[in-house]
Amino acid sequence: MTRAIYPGSFDPVTLGHLDIINRAAKIVDELIVGVLNNNSKTPLFSVENRVKMLEEVVKDIPNVKVMSFEGLLVDFADSIDAHIIVRGLRAVTDFEYELQMSQTNMVLNNDIDTIFFTTSLEYAYLSSSTVKEAAFYGADISRFVPKTVINQVYDKLKK
Ligand code: PNS
Repeated sequence: MTRAIYPGSFDPVTLGHLDIINRAAKIVDELIVGVLNNNSKTPLFSVENRVKMLEEVVKDIPNVKVMSFEGLLVDFADSIDAHIIVRGLRAVTDFEYELQMSQTNMVLNNDIDTIFFTTSLEYAYLSSSTVKEAAFYGADISRFVPKTVINQVYDKLKK
């Protein structure tokens, strides 16, 4: 059985993330979406909120589960017996960071490999940060995030 982990902050999940989740779920037996619970970053949404939003969004994809994690990604991956890390590559600007991260992870645990999905063209520009900024200034974010997430972003930014 092939189990992979798709890690990220997902603050909030975007249609770009969902695209990667759908595509990765087709080539592995089980995909765990791993939501980073990182105290040093200050996310807009709590980790519980981010997990809930993701669970709602992936509820119709039977082989996808959502979990949160703390600490090193490779340690979490190992603990759930996932030997593949999935990441999306949008543009050349992602490449340096992603390469560094995957090589660090490889040195930390040589049994875990990273595979990259090139982001679909329609989502190539999307990021959680730009979604938050656009929403903050009142832009329509319905083309950026899943339907169930739209109002949660506006509501959170109002608080
Ligand atoms: O969505 P993001 O913020 O680009 O995801 C980054 C993430 C969560 C994949 C990365 O920060 C991560 O794996 N953090 C856990 C700590 C870790 O293992 N870092 C990599 C080795 S230094």
